[in-house]
This record gives sequence, structure tokens and C-alpha cells, in this order.
Amino acid sequence: MPTNRIEITRPDDWHVHLRDSQILASVVEHTARRFARAIVMPNLNPPVTTVAQAMDYRKRILACVPAGLQFDPLMTLYLTQETSPADIRQAKASDGVVAVKLYPHGATTHSDAGVSDFRSIYHVLEAMEREDLPLLVHGEVTDPRVDVFDREKVFIDRHLIPLREQFPGLRIVLEHITTQDAVHFVQSSEHNLAATITAHHLLLNRNALFDGGIRPHHYCAPVLKRELHRQTLIAAATGGDPRFFLGTDSAPHPREAKQAACGCAGIFTAHAAIELYAEVFEHAGHLDRLEAFASFHGPDFYGFARNRGRLVLERRSWTVPEALPLGESVCIPLRAGQPVAWSLAALDER
Ligand code: DOR
Ligand code: ZN
Repeated sequence: MPTNRIEITRPDDWHVHLRDSQILASVVEHTARRFARAIVMPNLNPPVTTVAQAMDYRKRILACVPAGLQFDPLMTLYLTQETSPADIRQAKASDGVVAVKLYPHGATTHSDAGVSDFRSIYHVLEAMEREDLPLLVHGEVTDPRVDVFDREKVFIDRHLIPLREQFPGLRIVLEHITTQDAVHFVQSSEHNLAATITAHHLLLNRNALFDGGIRPHHYCAPVLKRELHRQTLIAAATGGDPRFFLGTDSAPHPREAKQAACGCAGIFTAHAAIELYAEVFEHAGHLDRLEAFASFHGPDFYGFARNRGRLVLERRSWTVPEALPLGESVCIPLRAGQPVAWSLAALDER
């Protein structure tokens, strides 16, 4: 008999885009209804590069959380060519900034301020290693000569392996991994290195980009990969290895920014995030491991306490709206117009 109810420790989202202003006001509730904490990405325009900016942004996020919901945004700084060791010390001493995000220049949405010369930030990485402040990495090269489907693997070979050798004590999260190469790299790392996995990379392979026509709402960075990679990601996520944990990379864009001649990268999943992961774990026959992936491995890696609240899902199919409000526009969520098998039933925040 399949179970009709899942009760887990309240989960956290270790990688989410909440944006700012009206878009922030539209999206934050989806995340706060499900997750107790979330690592909030700093790729605003302009980027969040200082502790003061991060703490202001945190206040703006909290102001949008509906009354009665407990939600703790964990802030990150955007690592630029100008970031200094003093910024790192300030971040470590702050009560709110928990990590620093590295975007290779040009890799994705709002990555213009990202790093183009990794050697030139080694003194900052040294400070991070010393202060034990985790580095969160968008692991793709942007070299146009490299095939777009190979950019994660090439990033690991070209940048991550040398960086690990140089800074063995630096804690690293390889964000939103998409390939077998990344899974194997994480599995072969003995310490200090973990990876987040999104729901969409667990649910979709690259065929979903061209399903009867081009599907801009399935376009994200790193781009969806072939089925072999998806299967490897599922095995990693549902396998119980503490080096893999939940990070949605939910990334809202207005419909018109996606349905365009040059559409933005990003898939919005916050409206059904934990429900979608539950589908993946059930399908893999490992619902019993959802809690560890969603609620234990992340805080254990970051060195935070696990949540005490509980979240209950029940087997009740619902249809995702065709569009969700997003500021003055709308966002087309993953599964728009289609069913999701699990529903949120209860939240005990404790
Ligand atoms: O698909 C993505 N969207 N990948 C990223 O790395 C950034 C994100 C965004 O900010 O839209
Ligand atoms: Zn992201």
C-alpha cells in the first residue's frame, strides 16, 4: 500500500532566487510556506556585494513574509573582482551573511559582475578558507568554444580541481549540479564539498526543452542534460549521501522575459517545491530518504541546527495554475496547467 501522508522535519531551501521589490513580494510566500530557511542568491541588479546591502535586502524579504509564517532568509554576498578580504571578515562577523556566491562572468542571469579571472580572487578565497565561510559555486565555464552541455564538466576540470588543491580547507557547495561528472566529483571528494540538486533537474531531461516545439519555461542554467545524467542525479539525491541536499534554484522571470527571442534562464518551482521533490523520491522508491535530503544534510553541512518544526504532505493531486502573479506581470511555473501528486497539508513551526 503506498503511503498517503509524509511527515518530515521542516525543510530548508539551500539555493533560491527571491529577487526584489514587487517580484519579491509575489514570490516569497511560496518559499516561506514550505521552508524554514533559505539561502538567498545575491544576483540582484546591482548585485548584493556588501554586508550592509545583504542586511538591507534581508529586511526587505522579511517585510514580505506573510504574518504568522516563520522564515529565516540566510544571506549571501556576490563575489566580484572587487571583493576584499575585509568584506569576508565582515561577512563572517555578521549576523545574517552565511556564504559567498561565485558566478563566472556571463554564466547566467545578472552575472555581469561575476569573476572572469579566478587567480585574481585567490586572496579572497584564502580569507574565506581562513574564516571558514562557505563558497557557493555556479559551476560552468563561459568559454564560447566549449559546448553548452559540457560547461559544467569543463568547469570542474579547469577551475574546481585546481581551486580544491589550492584551498583544501575551503568549504564549497557546487550549486544545482546537472551531470554525472559533477556527481562523481562530489562523491570522490572526501570533505568540505557538497552539492545542491534542483527539482527540475531531477524531473526533466533535455528533451523537455524541445517537446513539440521550443519550451522557454524549461530553459535554465545549467541547461537540462540528457537522461543518463538525470538518472545519476536521482541516484545521488535519493541515495542517502549527506553531500547532496535540496536547493531549488527557483528563479522567477516575467513571462515576457522568457518568451522572447533571447529568453532568460530560470525555472520557477517555489510554488510546489517540496511536493515536486516528493514525487521524485516516491518514484525512486525512497520516500523514506526525502527528509534527510530536504531537512538534515543541508544544516549539517553548513553547521546549523536542524529545524524543529514539522511539515506534512498528503497525497492529494492539484493542478498548478497556468500562470502566477509576478509583480505587474505573471510567471509561468513548472507544471503549469498540470497536476502535482502531493499537497501541503500542515505546518507546525514550533
Ligand atoms: O536558470 C538560472 N536562473 N540559473 C541561474 O544560475 C540563475 C537563475 C536566475 O537568476 O534567473
Ligand atoms: Zn541560482
